[in-house]
Amino acid sequence: MSDSPLLFSQELISPTVLAALPEGYTCRPLTRTDYANGFLDVLRVLTQVGDISEAQWDERYSWIEKRSDSYFILAIVDEKKRVVGTGALVAERKFIHNLGMVGHIEDIAVAKDQQGKKLGLRIIQALNFVAEKVGCYKTILDCSEANEGFYVKCGFKRAGLEMAHYY
Ligand code: ACO
Repeated sequence: MSDSPLLFSQELISPTVLAALPEGYTCRPLTRTDYANGFLDVLRVLTQVGDISEAQWDERYSWIEKRSDSYFILAIVDEKKRVVGTGALVAERKFIHNLGMVGHIEDIAVAKDQQGKKLGLRIIQALNFVAEKVGCYKTILDCSEANEGFYVKCGFKRAGLEMAHYY
């Protein structure tokens, strides 16, 4: 699996997803050492990441680690232990819906040369499993029109409209 501590329990990783991954690949919670395993490079297929030093990574990782009941970031790793895919679930606690919890799916990315192997689908299935296990009543996400078909294949349907205010 991984020698360094996992961000959250491996028990939250779907056995069905693990069984469905290509030979030699696995899915596990993020670890601090993923800085050296290509995690940020995978995110670069999604958007601009910036030049993040290991010290900056450590600081952010520690912040997230303290909130590991709310931030569930997972990694798909190949047989060489390189990160080839990632996705995050942020569990938001509400007052409404009887103190309900909503899962926000964020930052889904699969390395360019690994796309089309159903890894994106497995990431979403794995995040759905986490969401259900921790007690979310739904998961939501924002995406571009170009990715709508992917999320439909993952079982999502269009609901609402995204709006943004940049600072
Ligand atoms: N539009 C329509 N269908 C798609 C698309 C798309 N853009 N991408 C994949 N699919 C289909 C596949 O053909 C496949 O269909 P099938 O079951 O009929 O064969 C199914 O969706 C599953 O595809 P995967 O192989 O699991 O997709 P992949 O591993 O390539 O991952 C992803 C898809 C995550 C969108 C990947 O292309 C990627 O990393 N893109 C760049 C980053 C990005 O846009 N991320 C999503 C941002 S939105 C967010 O983070 C909430």
